[in-house]
Amino acid sequence: MSSLRDLQEVLRRTLAGWRWDLTLFVCSVVTLGILVVSETGHSKLEQEHSKAMEGVRVYAKLGRLARLLADAETAQRGYLLTRSEAYLAPYREALPEITTLLEQLETYFTNTGSSLDAERMRLIKNEAARKVAEMEKTLFAARQGDWEGAIGLVATDVGKYRMDAIRQLVEELQVAENDRVGDRVMAWRSHAQIARLSIAAVTALNVLLLVMLVRWLKRHWRQAREQGLELDAQVKARTAQLAMLASHLQEIDEAEKSRLARELHDELGSILTASRMDISWVRSKLTPEQTVLADKLARALRHIDQGVQAKRRIIEGLRPTTLTSFGLVTAARELVSQAADQAHWELQLDLPDADPDLSEEAAIALYRILQESLNNATKYSKTKRIRVSLVVRPGQCCVLEIEDYGTGFRLEEIRPKAHGILGMRERLAARGGLLVVDSVPGRGTRISATLPLDEPADPSETARDKTHAAGQVIPENVA
Ligand SMILES: Nc1ncnc2c1ncn2[C@@H]1O[C@H](COP(=O)(O)OP(=O)(O)O)[C@@H](O)[C@H]1O
Ligand SMILES: [Mg+2]
Repeated sequence: MSSLRDLQEVLRRTLAGWRWDLTLFVCSVVTLGILVVSETGHSKLEQEHSKAMEGVRVYAKLGRLARLLADAETAQRGYLLTRSEAYLAPYREALPEITTLLEQLETYFTNTGSSLDAERMRLIKNEAARKVAEMEKTLFAARQGDWEGAIGLVATDVGKYRMDAIRQLVEELQVAENDRVGDRVMAWRSHAQIARLSIAAVTALNVLLLVMLVRWLKRHWRQAREQGLELDAQVKARTAQLAMLASHLQEIDEAEKSRLARELHDELGSILTASRMDISWVRSKLTPEQTVLADKLARALRHIDQGVQAKRRIIEGLRPTTLTSFGLVTAARELVSQAADQAHWELQLDLPDADPDLSEEAAIALYRILQESLNNATKYSKTKRIRVSLVVRPGQCCVLEIEDYGTGFRLEEIRPKAHGILGMRERLAARGGLLVVDSVPGRGTRISATLPLDEPADPSETARDKTHAAGQVIPENVA
């Protein structure tokens, strides 16, 4: 039972997949079929038309034949009565045309008409030949001077009966031909009707096809749009999740660094202090003669002092105490000044007097971005000059900019495993901020980090969206 249902389902799906192709195929076949019918109808139409026209011409030829025979007879009689040669001219002119017409009509009726019509035509030909022979005979007698004999021949009723018979037969043939023409016109009309119907059918079919196509396209577009929207929503949700994860990882990282810094300070710090105190005590107990020991102890004290310095540096790196103790502006000033001193940069520093209104995490994020940008400038830029600024737009955002005038680089050429710039962007995105990297090879690099002063509730709502909302144009090389 279930296998039958499966089979039905497979069939339904296959048909659904093929439905459009099938419809197109069927419509094309039907259209072609109708076109063939229409084309055949059209050629029949032409045939019937030319046959009907030929029938009309034959009808006229029959009439002309009867008239020519009558004209010849009239000319013959006029000549016999008046003995004037002028009367003979129409007679002489009529004879060759009569012969031609007889031949043409005989061929036509033998090939086209019924056997009865062919027989009628044969009779017309015989009677006409006899009539011509009879007229020739009277004219011959007249030319021999036997006018009386010639008129006597004409006076008999034979000539009249013959002409009547010819006229009768011609009329019959004309009636038959007229009927045939009528039939052909009827056939022509029905073929014309078929051709008209075929065209109407093809047009209707094509309109139907067009309607189906438009409906299918509309449905297709709607589905594609819905799928696109769904995909968009999924991408947004995933981006939000990733941003949250990145933010969480960074918080863990900072917490771990704080813990390490604390332990180094408390544990190592107390050990080093205790060691220093013990050595100082031993040193105070030495006699002035024990100079070698005094030197050794002095060296040990110097080493311990170096250890204390190193511990402080490490702790500062792990947890920027200047930042936590004195705020972002002071910490930034110290960091930048140190870096500029070490790298021998000419420094342009524009910092506000007061710290911006940022949470501790946000301040750490900006501090780390400053650190990484300075590191990058030291490592890659070969610059001689650097500019660092922090601009606060009260109630809106603060913008940290680090600009060097060195080698610059192309964003698309960054190796995939480089995480510095990526990390900066993640830090900002997690707090609703935006990073813009503007770098031109040979001209330098400007890193611009914008953070909103009031943290948004949803970290996935990045400043990129906000910038759009504010109607600003985001540069193409937003990292
Ligand atoms: N200030 C700069 N001047 C020149 N090139 C830079 C600068 N900052 C970054 N770069 C280029 O961008 C790349 C990526 O930097 P980053 O993401 O910090 O990764 P990393 O420092 O680990 O290489 C660097 O390898 C360097 O080629
Ligand atoms: Mg780097």
